[in-house]
Amino acid sequence: MENKTTFPQGFLWGGAIAANQAEGAWNLDGKGPSVADAIAYKPNLDLTNYDGHMALTDENIADALNGRHDARYPKRRGIDFYHRYKDDLTLLAEMGCKVLRVSIAWARIFPTGEDAEPNEAGLQFYEDLFSEMRKQQIEPLVTLSHYEMPLVLSEKYNGWVHRNVVDAFVRYSNVCFDRYKDLVRYWLTFNEIDSIHRHPFTTAGIRHEKSAPGKAIEDVYQGLHHQFVASALVTRDCHKKIPGSQVGCMLTKLTTYPRTCHPTDVEATLKKNFENYFYADVQVFGHYPPLIKRDLALRGIKIEMQPDDQDILRKHTVDFVSFSYYMSLTESTQADVERTAGNTILGVKNPYLPASEWGWQIDPVGLKISLLELYDRYQKPLFIVENGLGAKDTIENGKIHDSYRIDYFRSHFEQMRAAIDEGVELMGFTSWGIIDIISAGTSQMSKRYGFIYVDQDDEGNGSLARVKKDSFYWYQQVIASNGSNLA
Ligand code: BG6
Repeated sequence: MENKTTFPQGFLWGGAIAANQAEGAWNLDGKGPSVADAIAYKPNLDLTNYDGHMALTDENIADALNGRHDARYPKRRGIDFYHRYKDDLTLLAEMGCKVLRVSIAWARIFPTGEDAEPNEAGLQFYEDLFSEMRKQQIEPLVTLSHYEMPLVLSEKYNGWVHRNVVDAFVRYSNVCFDRYKDLVRYWLTFNEIDSIHRHPFTTAGIRHEKSAPGKAIEDVYQGLHHQFVASALVTRDCHKKIPGSQVGCMLTKLTTYPRTCHPTDVEATLKKNFENYFYADVQVFGHYPPLIKRDLALRGIKIEMQPDDQDILRKHTVDFVSFSYYMSLTESTQADVERTAGNTILGVKNPYLPASEWGWQIDPVGLKISLLELYDRYQKPLFIVENGLGAKDTIENGKIHDSYRIDYFRSHFEQMRAAIDEGVELMGFTSWGIIDIISAGTSQMSKRYGFIYVDQDDEGNGSLARVKKDSFYWYQQVIASNGSNLA
């Protein structure tokens, strides 16, 4: 294989985690409960029905808040990153990590979302975390909202459906910009903003049963609109408060191919892809795409907008486009096609692709296709902020031989390199779950993505000891050679 050094100088190699899946300490130092803290672990989960798992009832919420069954809620314990972050950063620095994507748990800063004053202990935690990252020469890339809004806002307002949540989020974000302006330059507003349709509760605190009859979908679009406006407002504020800062949108890249070349399959696929682009279109172009507007009108969905909203969206667009990419899907108009689970989505199976144990189809060329499509459409720098393989690892004599993970990344890096060769502007790559964390979709610990193993099982047993996998050394060499050595 030919080895070309085509990753640009200063390419940001690193990893990603989210507060609710890693920190633990869910009720320490003044933190309020978040939506993530209310998601219980269910063994034998139906992978084809994520929303069924993450859509909570009043009874579930009451049960979650009674505090008697902590062990059932894995995101409350995470991997104890809250107390162990210094050692974890040391390991990441040893691997050569240049950037680490983390999120701020909003409920650590404003426990109920609308408190009179921010929680100083929460603010100090992130100041310490970002300072330590700088000390270890790891650039922070910070997501303001990653499936962890204060549960109180969800209960009080049905989450983002209510306009007051925009104000609460803008206030929270500004507190973060003021406090971390000297430490953080790269910001993301909403993780996978499109996921509001797939799991509205974790993304936006929205529960369908709280909507008026027949209004559940309209409420989700209303919540999404509020997130678009909030994202634009905080992009404005970040630029004002932190000169030189860069703010990105974040999209789940669900690249979809037609199952056959029958024109009706091609048309259905085109529409799937329009749907997937819609979110970044608004955040990059600054307005709702006309075909989406027409589609909403045809479906009788009305979004309430305030007079300035369109102007806000138009003026404060993002600097770069970030996305997660794990898998691709196919689309078909036939009813009798085989289906497969994906990233909180059910798609049509592609006969040419292998899949992970969770059914996610492995498609490195799909990453290149995604890069080309996104760059051609937006002509903005791109940042892959999530990619990786969820797999079960086994320890043998204290070692984890995860050649399957190395193969996964190698094939994806080759495609990234090819896309860069063809002209795509790619700022960096952060592997998802650089250290094993709790799964967002299944709350499992056994669905592992990391280069660093964490000794904990699905029930929370284990020493939490960290162990370097074979892939740790491989990624170390990839970073040291700026991607020229993928062997
Ligand atoms: C992304 C989320 O969609 O997928 C992450 O932003 C999540 O939070 C990742 O962990 C992988 O999904 P899962 O369900 O395997 O953890």
